[in-house]
Amino acid sequence: MGLRNLIKRRLAANLGQPSGFWGLFVGQVLNRVNSGPIIGTLSTLDAAKGATVADIGFGGGSGLRILLDQVGPSGVVYGIDPAPVAIRRARLQFRREIREGRLRLQQVNMSQLPLPDDSLDGVTTVNTIYYIDDGELTASLTELARVLRPGGRLVVGLGDTDHLGTVPWRDVMLLRPLDEVVDMITAAGFTISDHRRVGSSSRAFHVYVATAP
Ligand SMILES: C[S@@+](CC[C@H](N)C(=O)[O-])C[C@H]1O[C@@H](n2cnc3c(N)ncnc32)[C@H](O)[C@@H]1O
Repeated sequence: MGLRNLIKRRLAANLGQPSGFWGLFVGQVLNRVNSGPIIGTLSTLDAAKGATVADIGFGGGSGLRILLDQVGPSGVVYGIDPAPVAIRRARLQFRREIREGRLRLQQVNMSQLPLPDDSLDGVTTVNTIYYIDDGELTASLTELARVLRPGGRLVVGLGDTDHLGTVPWRDVMLLRPLDEVVDMITAAGFTISDHRRVGSSSRAFHVYVATAP
């Protein structure tokens, strides 16, 4: 196997479950290559000052900075990711915000959130659901409906399925038709209130906004 192929395979393997050196490296790469989709998705949440919100599957952590800016010094951001390497990196990157209690990190899957009912005003999750099987995604969406207050907003960002079907790392992803994703979100009790695209080509990223029951 050539070096280029080896690097591609290591990167692909670390997209859904980052760990060790490659996981750290993937975090940096994701922050750079996903900056458009991350900004597009998180700006759609448009959280109020003082709100309590979460970015789930934050990976390289650039979304945490965006949410911290949205909610301001009186708000709280939960950074949730099951990967130890993502948590370690965020601990180093956001020392001050963690000390001030403005950023709270939790190393868990989104199907089992250690948060009380109705405790969040908003949740964002970008480029995560393709790494989660149907059973766990269904449980995760039910869990998000539980922790969001009634009327709270869930914003899901995901790549275009046709486009993702052509990328070299497609084999590590569960590529669901968008209609199926929408059905799964609404089956958990959410109402989809908006679908917008980030970018102008047919590959443009999809952002779904859903309101919690
Ligand atoms: C491709 S990265 C996306 C990171 C970032 N949101 C971005 O768009 O660049 C996928 C992230 O989802 C996380 N993840 C995987 N399974 C998850 C689950 N069940 N619940 C929450 N996060 C999960 C991974 O640890 C990883 O950090």
